[in-house]
Amino acid sequence: MDKLVDSIIITKPDDWHVHFRDGEMLDAVIFDTVKQFSRAIIMPNLSEPITTTNMAKNYRHRILDSLARLKKNNQISKESSFTPLMTLYLTDNTKPEEVLNAHSSGFVFAFKLYPAASTTNSTAGVSNLFENCREVLEKLQYIGMPLLIHAELPDKNIDIFDRERFFIDKIMTPLRRDFPDIKLVFEHVSTKEGVDFVMEDTGPIAATVTPQHLIYNRNSLFSGGLNPHLYCLPILKAEEHRKAILKAVFSGSARFFLGTDSAPHIRSLKENRCGCAGCYNAYNAMALYASIFDENNSLDKLEAFASFNGPDFYGLPRNRDFFVLHRKENIIPDMLEIGKIQLIPLGAGSTINWCI
Ligand code: DOR
Ligand code: ZN
Repeated sequence: MDKLVDSIIITKPDDWHVHFRDGEMLDAVIFDTVKQFSRAIIMPNLSEPITTTNMAKNYRHRILDSLARLKKNNQISKESSFTPLMTLYLTDNTKPEEVLNAHSSGFVFAFKLYPAASTTNSTAGVSNLFENCREVLEKLQYIGMPLLIHAELPDKNIDIFDRERFFIDKIMTPLRRDFPDIKLVFEHVSTKEGVDFVMEDTGPIAATVTPQHLIYNRNSLFSGGLNPHLYCLPILKAEEHRKAILKAVFSGSARFFLGTDSAPHIRSLKENRCGCAGCYNAYNAMALYASIFDENNSLDKLEAFASFNGPDFYGLPRNRDFFVLHRKENIIPDMLEIGKIQLIPLGAGSTINWCI
């Protein structure tokens, strides 16, 4: 693609990994996702995790109600459509029948594996996958429902920068050995080892890639001082890892697709004695992706990454409407204030070259 194009038109994208939260926060953030994406995979790690199909049904209604309020307030057009794709939170006690319930519901599209104590609201996560979840894994494999994986081993004795690498050896490799056909999504891949695993795996697998893991490395966390708004999990890694992720994404491999992992926490909980993990990147997600693709002369790879590879992997139709991005100076605000909620968007205060 000509480097000097001043706009691009792509098939409308989807976000295959987003945290919408609930209540006031849901109302504050949903617009940013809806303005860019047709569908999104909704993470289930609410303070009370979404562990059953029935809970997902109620959560989905709260999301649709929030959407209806946007329409009523004319914040989005009455015709615009957005589909939340729900997920269930896997626990040590998830019943195998729940996989069947989820599948037959028509609105649950995946299970999410949070290793216990790995990240935000993960205390109810899985303590021992192979001891406690074998039957569920068998059902997922049988039905063809994806297992979305937070691929970090949360062991105090493992350096935080090595948690993804250790998880691959301890969990991913035996998981694939025992379940050769289970559909896996390696969420927010952050290391060279993660990229290699996804590239070389012999079963159905894909990885989501966030804007922050494409744009920043671990130096960015400390450049000019401590930057709490770049703190997410998995934590940003060294430059060689960022380079490996860029290379994989720009290789055009269909195994890599867009998942923002937009994870809002109010400003006071980020700028805190013990700040929460998560970047709020939904505000400018597509512009951020376009900028990094453009900087790497790979704008021609953006459409498959953002709009084709995800639905193809999930076995869903590609979107039929279109989406326009413009090459234009885009100054990212220092802060967003939505009612009482203050959020710091990813890249706050910086300028990028693309906007929607
Ligand atoms: O940084 C993160 N924030 N990583 C996660 O895995 C969870 C997320 C959140 O929910 O805040
Ligand atoms: Zn996430």
